[in-house]
Amino acid sequence: MKAQVILGLESSCDDTGAALVRARPGEPVGEVLADVVFGQGRLHAPFGGVVPEIAARAHAERLDIATEAALAEAGLELDDLDAVAVTAGPGLIGGVMAGVMFAKGLAAARGLPLWGINHLAGHALSPRLTEDLDFPYLMLLVSGGHCQILGVEGVTRFRRIGGTIDDAVGEAFDKVAKLLGLPQPGGPAVEREAEAGDRGRFAFPRPLLDREDCNLSFSGLKTAVRRARDRLVAAQGGLRRSDLADIAAGFQAAVAEVLAEKTRRALAMSGYPALAVAGGVAANRAVRGALEDVAAAAGVRFVAPPLRFCTDNGAIIAWAAAERMADAESLPDALDLTPRPRWPLDEEAAPILGGGRKGAKA
Ligand code: KG4
Ligand code: ZN
Repeated sequence: MKAQVILGLESSCDDTGAALVRARPGEPVGEVLADVVFGQGRLHAPFGGVVPEIAARAHAERLDIATEAALAEAGLELDDLDAVAVTAGPGLIGGVMAGVMFAKGLAAARGLPLWGINHLAGHALSPRLTEDLDFPYLMLLVSGGHCQILGVEGVTRFRRIGGTIDDAVGEAFDKVAKLLGLPQPGGPAVEREAEAGDRGRFAFPRPLLDREDCNLSFSGLKTAVRRARDRLVAAQGGLRRSDLADIAAGFQAAVAEVLAEKTRRALAMSGYPALAVAGGVAANRAVRGALEDVAAAAGVRFVAPPLRFCTDNGAIIAWAAAERMADAESLPDALDLTPRPRWPLDEEAAPILGGGRKGAKA
């Protein structure tokens, strides 16, 4: 198939993304011509979390601006587009609707094929945007809203091997940062603090490590951090700098150990020849190092995409559409494409409880 220029739109949470990707469906890796992301952090900050109505309105106002900015960045015009791809779920329904309506309008007006993309498939396929990586592989998807261990066996074949039963791991970093009076987003702040810390001072739990499955849990670990903090405050009237560092280091070590061990089991169970990571938490050096060790010990390839493609953006959505164009069983969507607040990747897996601050996404 000839090279396709695909507009990818993302609006399922608090980032408005419009990206242009040129890809030859069926061939490895794509070329990102433009990648515009408008974050909404400032809009939601006064409320301490993402407010769905504010998010939806901001997406509706900015999707066209983001698209124009992406076209300008790439030096292209609407006439140069071959397809429109949009996140059709799972996510906050108002934002998903804003994206789907905008994409439908553009596809109808320009006579372009429309691809409704599962946001989680966008993440799951993201390593192949920049790396020549064959199916199958194991994907550890760890961000503020997602926390899953997935088997990626094909463009539309996903197997859920494990996931969180309560908080997403990035959410746990954010909550622990809040408990310690550190700034948001919590992950980078906790990581910085942990550098000077003694990871062995606090014996934090390793949740669910005693269970053989690959599920994860972080809410008990967060409670243990709160207790450690409260004990110190009661005993000495506050936290010393070294206390902060030791708690952060102990928490981070517990997270890295649990993620590594569950990933090791998932690799052993599945026999996949590669491990890929995505999501903001993949930036954490302790977590990344632990996963690299797991991959090396199992003798499998380790793939970590550049961080900007690990997080929410339109490029991974455009790429997922390129993948589907090459898939014999995939067809574009019609104008009756329906936004889906819930959309499990693996329809056969039994639902698990929880799934993160931004709601159970899958
Ligand atoms: O993928 P992402 O940018 O957005 C969504 O959650 O959709 O991930 C953000 C999450 C936040 O919870 C943030 O605290 C976490 O990733 N994070 C980190 C690090 N950088 C970002 N967690 C641990 N260590 C980091 N260095
Ligand atoms: Zn995401």
